[in-house]
Amino acid sequence: MGHNRADEKRIEMDRKGLEKELKEAFCWFHEHPELAYEETRTTAKIREILTRYEIEILPYALETGLVAVIRGEQAGPVQALRCDIDALPIEEETELSYCSREPGKMHACGHDMHITAGIGCAVLLQENRSRLHGTVRIIFQPAEETSLGALKILETNVMDDVERIWGFHADPTNPAGTIAIREGYVTAAVDRFVITIKGIGCHGAHPDDGIDPVPVAAAVIQALQTIVGRNVNAFHPSLLSVTRVSAGTTWNVIPAEAVMEGTVRTMEREDRTLYEKRLCEIAKNMAQAYGAEAEVEWIPGPPATYNDPEMADACAELAEEMGLRTAVEESSLGGDDFAFYEEKIPGCYVKIGTGIGHPIHHPGFAVEPEMLLPAAEFLGKCLMGYAEWIFNR
Ligand code: NI
Repeated sequence: MGHNRADEKRIEMDRKGLEKELKEAFCWFHEHPELAYEETRTTAKIREILTRYEIEILPYALETGLVAVIRGEQAGPVQALRCDIDALPIEEETELSYCSREPGKMHACGHDMHITAGIGCAVLLQENRSRLHGTVRIIFQPAEETSLGALKILETNVMDDVERIWGFHADPTNPAGTIAIREGYVTAAVDRFVITIKGIGCHGAHPDDGIDPVPVAAAVIQALQTIVGRNVNAFHPSLLSVTRVSAGTTWNVIPAEAVMEGTVRTMEREDRTLYEKRLCEIAKNMAQAYGAEAEVEWIPGPPATYNDPEMADACAELAEEMGLRTAVEESSLGGDDFAFYEEKIPGCYVKIGTGIGHPIHHPGFAVEPEMLLPAAEFLGKCLMGYAEWIFNR
């Protein structure tokens, strides 16, 4: 590239200007967290910044979130970048000068960083659209924390012709700006279950008059853990957690019902089916053995996130080319609704180091703002580099 000194100086000044812009935007988003489907001020702020950079915003049917588009001047594919924008119902406990101004709400999952890096990426792509192959849609997605925001986006038509999708997440296990990548499964399928044991209520002193659902629930809880130990292939990561148990209202009455709720996390599709089947069998047959009945409700969430090997490779190469620190992405039995997009098209979901500190969803979680511009540059590079690569192949 034949830049002269004046060009280089201008590029450096643009870079500094964008960095300042991103840091200010990030602080604003951090100070103004909004929960799922309530992200109206967040959306307005994103719109305001993008409009200032003359970035096109697509008409779109949802009330919160938005979709920006950058139309490259070279032929190429349609790609998307997903940035989730919602915060969590957590009371912030950091000492940051820009800490949350909303009681009981906090950007504790780093989605404020996702928004900001997404904006930065949009600005960089817009500046480089003469060299950009194809089109990039930047999806500022609402309600990731409900696991359903991605489905809402998919119900609109903005994803219909998208061929590849990129996603990323804040990573407080790595130094700021580290790119963590791996091929294959990176987050788990997230399913939820509710089991209701129906017995017959009676006096606490006369259990023989009824059917006590409490020991049935206890037996079911114990037996459910044998699914992971005895039924699932020992080389497949998975887990089952019973997270809520409730029965009865007082000390001297045997209740008629006991309810248990929890979650199943799996990586392999076959295990998802296996868990559902075994969970129903165990609950129903165990209840029957005690003379009670069980009702099982299985509520499927997003599938496992899978990193397309070709995209993950390209991503790793680009990170190295840019001289960024790279790491192997830890896979996790946490989930991300990003996986819903991947039911339709190949995708890649990387983690970007936000500085080692408290884990996500912790009231002390904090992002080092130094990573914002490198993150935006890296995402821009992925989208540009991959489009060019597809085009040249
Ligand atoms: Ni998150």
